Amino acid sequence: MAEFHFVEDYERLVANLVATRPIDEAMAVAVGGDFENIGRIERSVVRHAGLRDGMSLIDLGCGSGRLAWALGQAMRIDYLGIDIVQALLDYAKTRSPSTYRYVLNRTLAIPAPDASADMVAAFSVFTHLLHAETYLYMEDIKRVLRPGGRLVFSFLEFANPEHWLVFSGTVEAQRKSETPHLNQFIERNAIDLWATKLGYEREAFIDGADAPWGDAPNLWQTVAILRRP
Ligand SMILES: C[S@@+](CC[C@H](N)C(=O)[O-])C[C@H]1O[C@@H](n2cnc3c(N)ncnc32)[C@H](O)[C@@H]1O
Repeated sequence: MAEFHFVEDYERLVANLVATRPIDEAMAVAVGGDFENIGRIERSVVRHAGLRDGMSLIDLGCGSGRLAWALGQAMRIDYLGIDIVQALLDYAKTRSPSTYRYVLNRTLAIPAPDASADMVAAFSVFTHLLHAETYLYMEDIKRVLRPGGRLVFSFLEFANPEHWLVFSGTVEAQRKSETPHLNQFIERNAIDLWATKLGYEREAFIDGADAPWGDAPNLWQTVAILRRP
C-alpha cells in the first residue's frame, strides 16, 4: 500500500540523519534542532493556552520528544505522543517520564477516545501537511477534545516576512529537483474558516515575534489557539 507523502519524507529524513550523525544530534535535527530550548518554549505555549497539572495532553507529531522532555521536567500531566516514525517515538520515550505513552499512527485520525483530552498540541506539523490533511486532523481533534478543550498549533504564514525564508528555500530545492519535503503555509483566514466550519472558537493567533507567555523567547512560527465550545 502506498504510504502518505509525509511518511516517506520523514522516514527518509530520519534514516539519513541516524546514519550520519550521533543519535542525540540526529534526533534533535530531525525535528528542527535546539532540542531543550524549543521544548521549553513549546511548554510555555501550552501553559499559556491553559495546560495545567492533572490535565491530559495529546502531542500530535511529537517527534523525538522536545515538548515531552520539557513537560516532564516541570509538570505532572497525562501525556500521549503520536508520530509516524517509530525511531522518533523510541527516542522520545528515553527522554520523558515513564508514564508518558507513545503511539505510531499513520492515518489521518487521532487514536484516542471521544472527549478524552484537555488539549491537543501540534507544533510544526501542519506545516508539512496538505490543507485537506490538516482539516481532517482538526475535525478528528475536535472529537477527542473535551468540551472547553483546546487545540494549539504552530504554522507558517506569508504575512510574516521572516517565514519567507522557508518558502524561498523550498523553491530553490524544487528548482534543483531535490524533491524537498513539503513546507506548507496556512493563512489566518483559512484557519478561521476551518474553525467556523468545524465548530471551534478561535481564541488567539500569536505572532511569531511575540511571546505573551513571558518566561521564554518567542516560537518564531505563528501559534493558533482554538477551543472546542
Ligand atoms: C518539525 S517536526 C516537529 C516535532 C515536534 N512537534 C516538535 O516540535 O519537536 C514534525 C513532526 O511531525 C511528524 N509528522 C509529520 N506528519 C505527521 C502526521 N501526519 N501525523 C503525525 N505526525 C506527523 C514528523 O514525523 C515529525 O516528528
